Amino acid sequence: MKKIFLTLTAVVIPFLTGTAQIKNPIYKDKKAPIEARIENLISLMTLEEKIMQMNQWTYGKNANPNNIGEIMKAANPEIGSLLYRSTNPEYRNQIQKKAMTETRLGIPIIFGFDAIHGYRTVFPIPLAQACSWNTELVKQSCAITAKESWLSGLDWTFSPMLDVARDARWGRVSEGYGEDTYANSVFAVAAVQGYQGENLADKYTIAACLKHYIGYSLSEGGRDYHYSDISNQTLWETFMPPFEAGIKAGAATVMCGFNDISGIPASANHYTLTEILKRKWGHQGFVISDWGSIRNLVEQSVAKDLKEAATKSVLAGVEMDMVDNAYLDYLPELVKEGKVPMATIDEAVRRIIRVKMKLGLFENPYVDVVPEKKRYLLPEYLKVAEELAAESMVLLKNKKQTLPITDKYKNLAIIGPMVKDSVHIMGFWEGMGRPEDVETIFDGLQKEFKNKATLNYALGCNFEGEDKSGFAEALAAAKKSDAVVVFLGEKRNWSGENGSRSTIALPKIQEELVAELQKAGKPIILMLSSGRPLELIRLNEMADAIVEIWQPGTVAGSSVAGILSGRHNPSGKLSITFPQTTGQIPIYYNMREAARPDLGHYQDIPRDALYWFGHGLSYTTYEYSPIKLSKTKIQKGEKIIAEVEVTNAGSRDGKETVQWFVKDPFATISRPMKELKYFEKKEIKSGEKVVYRFEIDPMRDLSYLDSVGVRHLEAGDFYVIVNNQKIKFELVD
Ligand code: NOJ
Repeated sequence: MKKIFLTLTAVVIPFLTGTAQIKNPIYKDKKAPIEARIENLISLMTLEEKIMQMNQWTYGKNANPNNIGEIMKAANPEIGSLLYRSTNPEYRNQIQKKAMTETRLGIPIIFGFDAIHGYRTVFPIPLAQACSWNTELVKQSCAITAKESWLSGLDWTFSPMLDVARDARWGRVSEGYGEDTYANSVFAVAAVQGYQGENLADKYTIAACLKHYIGYSLSEGGRDYHYSDISNQTLWETFMPPFEAGIKAGAATVMCGFNDISGIPASANHYTLTEILKRKWGHQGFVISDWGSIRNLVEQSVAKDLKEAATKSVLAGVEMDMVDNAYLDYLPELVKEGKVPMATIDEAVRRIIRVKMKLGLFENPYVDVVPEKKRYLLPEYLKVAEELAAESMVLLKNKKQTLPITDKYKNLAIIGPMVKDSVHIMGFWEGMGRPEDVETIFDGLQKEFKNKATLNYALGCNFEGEDKSGFAEALAAAKKSDAVVVFLGEKRNWSGENGSRSTIALPKIQEELVAELQKAGKPIILMLSSGRPLELIRLNEMADAIVEIWQPGTVAGSSVAGILSGRHNPSGKLSITFPQTTGQIPIYYNMREAARPDLGHYQDIPRDALYWFGHGLSYTTYEYSPIKLSKTKIQKGEKIIAEVEVTNAGSRDGKETVQWFVKDPFATISRPMKELKYFEKKEIKSGEKVVYRFEIDPMRDLSYLDSVGVRHLEAGDFYVIVNNQKIKFELVD
């Protein structure tokens, strides 16, 4: 079967007789109901044609225009999907034309790619996006990604990633929305709406893919691809809700994870893939395996060979095989042997065709071809990128208002390996982002501080290694300046896929550079670019101010410079906790209470995290009024309104996110210390007050899921928590 994949062999040729043979089939009638069209098409398909639909192929990374001939020859037009790594819409249209006109049934191919935080315009990494708490900007960034992607020949992105992540050693924390289940759920909806728009059949929209279903972030010890031991309680309470929210928002597809979930790998898990995703939640689209995850069932020792792996995956509910060729090679014989029912194949194809129909591919199989100048990096895209990057940056520390850099600093030392970088600053999964598109921090600072401050640049050191030869120059720059801004951070592949690290501290050389710079006796402003929380226990002591800028993407320069100058007032709050040290992991804000809460903490470090989830300072100050509740006792069917008035008591306008937590102090199944239930970000002008409201719906906000996914609402006392205030109310039967 392998050969049919690469060349048009005897198996396929007899079918390539054009679609004219089948007169006016219903599936081609765009006015007919979708389900009738799908059934009609399935009734006309051969087993081989069906199996071809269940495969995704890729042709490598070479998008050199001279190779198009080769690509065209190699691309079998009967394939269900292509992982499309070219930016050229014309190649896509040519390949699609073969599918539409040179195959018997003319079924369009769906073209997919990893546009994770942007396509050519690179937005900040998702972990950072979540720190903005600005769902509208996240949605806009996804809509821009969809448009740039569609105009480059894509119908589908493998995003958003909804793996609630609590172990920062796992490099893929960068790709999701942090440690909180509710936050992941809300951003899941924003991303799906952004990518898919109002109607998937519209131009410029692409199908979303929720991944990695499910529990992948719990890979033991943060080692990527490793075993994950997940209780059903944790599965339901922590990992399921974001996926359910994404499905309810209409996500067209889902990708299963690489991980082994307590002995039944995600790619062979009938319970999660079929019983929950399809039967309980009613997902109508399809599931794609992750790259090689069907084959991995052999390594994970649940299948003796690839044939058995294919059997397990398809029966569990994985409809499309990403580049493994397991389905292509083994499904024909498995069906003939009666090991895989024809009904399973039909159901898989039904789901794949349904997504293609919803995308409008049967009617509009081609994308528009417009010049690159009109396709990428448009000024309005860069504006959203700058806003999102600036709003995602978190002011962690600001001793005696070291920041912003006003005219009190005439000479600034600008030091560190991140200053002139244009590669690592984009983060992992940079899509089709190019270093030459990136406005570096150096460029941004030069623009921002032109005629305002003199910049004294020195590299200081590289990202890693032991070379201290640049220290002297850096110290000299620090000595002749009024403040020292040090840009440290991680290389792009230190996080992302296969980016596990045993320590989340920066390499020693970077910490040593800061220690050296302290000798100048000037204020030290630390700007950190990373794809994960960092171990800052030592650096924190050395710095007067710290900003986590994450990996901000294409518009790094202006967003970072704007934060430093105060043109952007920081409004980011952490979507993930920064521990004191790596050994404190796992540590997250909504842990469950210990049996002896005051005991058992590590003896050698402070008991708290260094910076908890939700932490983030501003250049202005906000004052919260006491929380007001509309009632203090409610019945289960009633709602209660909590309100807080926030005053901007400082001299700068700002945006403040109010996070509403609930605590259930006593329940049949123990509850976390507190749980985020709602958040809202609003602009508050200097001197003004704004009221924030949270309408508490008991069934939604006070209940919990048990280990089989059943929701329980128990009467008793509850607390609403906002910004260190806590107020009690009672729920009665
Ligand atoms: C493997 C990654 O785990 C997944 O997130 C990605 O979408 C696929 N490769 C395709 O590139």
